[in-house]
Amino acid sequence: MTDAINRKRLEESMDALGRVGETPKGGLTRLALSDEDRRGRDLLVEWMRGAGLRVTVDRMGNIFGERAGRAALPPVLMGSHADSVPTGGKYDGQLGVLCALEAIRSLNDHGIRTRHPVGMAIFTNEEGARFQPAMIGSGVMAGKIPLEDAYNARDRDGIRLGDELERIGYLGSEPCVPRPLRAYLELHIEQGPILEEEGVPIGVVEGIVAISWSRLTLHGTQDHAGPTPMRIRHDALVAAAEVVRRVREIPAELGGDLVSTVGRLDVTPNIPNAIPGRVTMSIDLRDPDDARLDRALRLLDRAVEAAARTEGVTYELEHYWRVPRTPFAPDVVGAVESAARSLGVRSRRILSGAGHDAQYMAAICPTGMIFVPSRAGRSHCEEEFTPMDDVEHGANALFRAACSLAERAE
Ligand code: GLV
Ligand code: MN
Ligand code: MN
Repeated sequence: MTDAINRKRLEESMDALGRVGETPKGGLTRLALSDEDRRGRDLLVEWMRGAGLRVTVDRMGNIFGERAGRAALPPVLMGSHADSVPTGGKYDGQLGVLCALEAIRSLNDHGIRTRHPVGMAIFTNEEGARFQPAMIGSGVMAGKIPLEDAYNARDRDGIRLGDELERIGYLGSEPCVPRPLRAYLELHIEQGPILEEEGVPIGVVEGIVAISWSRLTLHGTQDHAGPTPMRIRHDALVAAAEVVRRVREIPAELGGDLVSTVGRLDVTPNIPNAIPGRVTMSIDLRDPDDARLDRALRLLDRAVEAAARTEGVTYELEHYWRVPRTPFAPDVVGAVESAARSLGVRSRRILSGAGHDAQYMAAICPTGMIFVPSRAGRSHCEEEFTPMDDVEHGANALFRAACSLAERAE
């Protein structure tokens, strides 16, 4: 097969979409269901219609576009997300959506007919930055998150996800439920250093690690920073600091590839001259091994209990989101590997440490992913970057893998 994607057109689309929500330092802030997200979605829908796709939007605001096949068979779906974290980069999510669109545009250019239809998807609130949990659009679609819970998720300002969907005009009418699919394929940046370090342009993703999110609220006694003697204080932030320290120690204690992060801390009243009365924090734990992740959660329970007792504060600890380790489908993984081989570029098998919509899609249909290198392994930051040569290899691998899964017919 000699047909290829159009690198120049892909680069132009990356530049144009990258301007929607661009930060002064060349990164991206396009939070889920914000005005920037709406503008990005509108642009993508215009391009999808321009490529001849039949576009539909479901009740979670997930956007789908479909190109007919020769037979009424389940489609091969490619996709990712178009939301970003605050001061994030222009590759996480957006690249997968644009490579899916480019693969479809290339099918059109080359007049390729496939037996199965080929489609693309843009999932709502993958990042979990504005509304928790992450991957909420695909999670509802896979039946793992109730629709009403998703609608009732609130951002920091108390704004409901369901209301924002309606406000930006993306509360669609299609049911958000599993549908018959031949396969789901997602191209994404690696977000780690391995591919770049090894000089390998394509990661054949075998699966995704187990992820757990917890929310801890510590209740101390708010009081004056001056007249209150140290001996009678119950400082929620001091207890929180001890928990942060312990969370950092857990991976060293348990070994393996466990990682732990406290990424969010909300302190009340958060002024210089009051003892913090309340702290809310997030704890993100990930491990390729579900059993070790369970052990980490038990250590977290004990660490919180001890920190609260020492400082004389009370707490609520909620382990509210869990996604198990997810292996991908051998035939889709194989299709990605063959596509890389047919391009004559090096590839290697890899496990994802980041969550992706593919993790929920794997519960619906045979699923796989393609990784391209991340410069210095950086992501969720404005420095995110992938060289265009690698993007081109990844997009061509996606195009070829989709063609083979959809059974190209001359
Ligand atoms: C998504 O970016 C996640 O892995 O949290
Ligand atoms: Mn992503
Ligand atoms: Mn991300």
